[in-house]
Parts: sequence; C-alpha cells; structure tokens
Amino acid sequence: MRFFVPLVLLAACGPTPNPTPDAGDPLLTCDPMPTEVTLAGRVQAELFDRQCRSCHNAASASNGDYSAADRTAAAIARPSQFSMALKPVEPNNLARSVLWLKMNQLRGPSGEALGGVMPPGGKLGEASLKLVKDWICTGAK
Ligand code: HEC
Repeated sequence: MRFFVPLVLLAACGPTPNPTPDAGDPLLTCDPMPTEVTLAGRVQAELFDRQCRSCHNAASASNGDYSAADRTAAAIARPSQFSMALKPVEPNNLARSVLWLKMNQLRGPSGEALGGVMPPGGKLGEASLKLVKDWICTGAK
C-alpha cells in the first residue's frame, strides 16, 4: 500500500515531453547505408513544398523561408532562432540539426528548448522522416 500513491502519480505524469536526447539514441544515428537525396532532387518537392511552405515562406521568413530549394538551402544554414550555436540543418549531424530534432520532438544537445514539433500538426510518418534523415546524413545538399 505504501508504494501505491507514488506509482499512481508517476503514471499520471506520463513521459516527459521533449526530452534531451541521449548520445546513443538511434534517432540521432545515421542509418548504415543512407540513400543519397538532395533538396533539388526530392526533398524540396516531397517534404518542404507539401508539408512546410504553407507557413515557411517569404511572409514569415524569420522562422525560415522554405518555399524554393535555393531559399531553403540559405535558411537552413543560418543560426537557429533557438540557439546561435545550432542551425536548422548541420550536414551529417542529426543531433545538431534543429529541423530534425523538432520533427522528432527532441531538445537540443545541451537540453535547449526548441519550440514546437514540426510540422505543428504532429510528427510525420516514417517515410518522410527517413527522407529527411538520409538527406541530412548524405550532406544535406
Ligand atoms: C502551421 C505552420 C507551420 C508549418 C506547416 C510548419 N512550420 Fe516550422 N515553424 C512554424 C512556426 C510558427 C515556427 C516558430 C515557432 C516554433 O519553432 O515553434 C517554426 C519554426 C521552425 C523551425 C525553427 C527554425 C529555427 O530558427 O531554428 C524549423 C527548423 C521548422 N519550423 C521546420 C519545419 C519543417 C521541416 C516543416 C515541414 C515538415 C515545418 N516547419 C512546417 C510554423 C510552421
């Protein structure tokens, strides 16, 4: 009986939102044989045009203008609004890519809060996540 109350409390709290990722987290590890994908080849059309550019366009450029491949390339290379030490995309480094961390509801490598999940409607499916992962893991060109 003595342990009953704390257990109930733990269950009610549920998992911590936006945890700081562990270094060995598979989410932060590139797959062994990533498919090489590029912005101009697939990622702009299949991800940014479909899921992001309705909000990420010239009208709200402070959050990143992802409305065309050249604009996206420029925006993801600038310092993040959440930390001058981080960029939306750090090529070949999932753990330091704010875009990837936000898409997976994770914090930054030093526990930085990174705002909401992207897209705000909820975490995308495996195919979209794999596309972004392979893009970042093959140099984010
Ligand atoms: C409904 C509007 C909306 C959509 C759709 C959306 N975003 Fe965002 N995004 C925002 C807003 C608002 C912010 C700033 C607040 C925040 O980060 O929570 C933001 C911030 C960001 C940032 C932070 C940039 C920085 O300065 O570090 C990234 C990265 C990002 N979004 C990526 C994406 C990606 C990738 C998609 C598509 C998969 C997407 N967003 C779709 C509204 C949106």
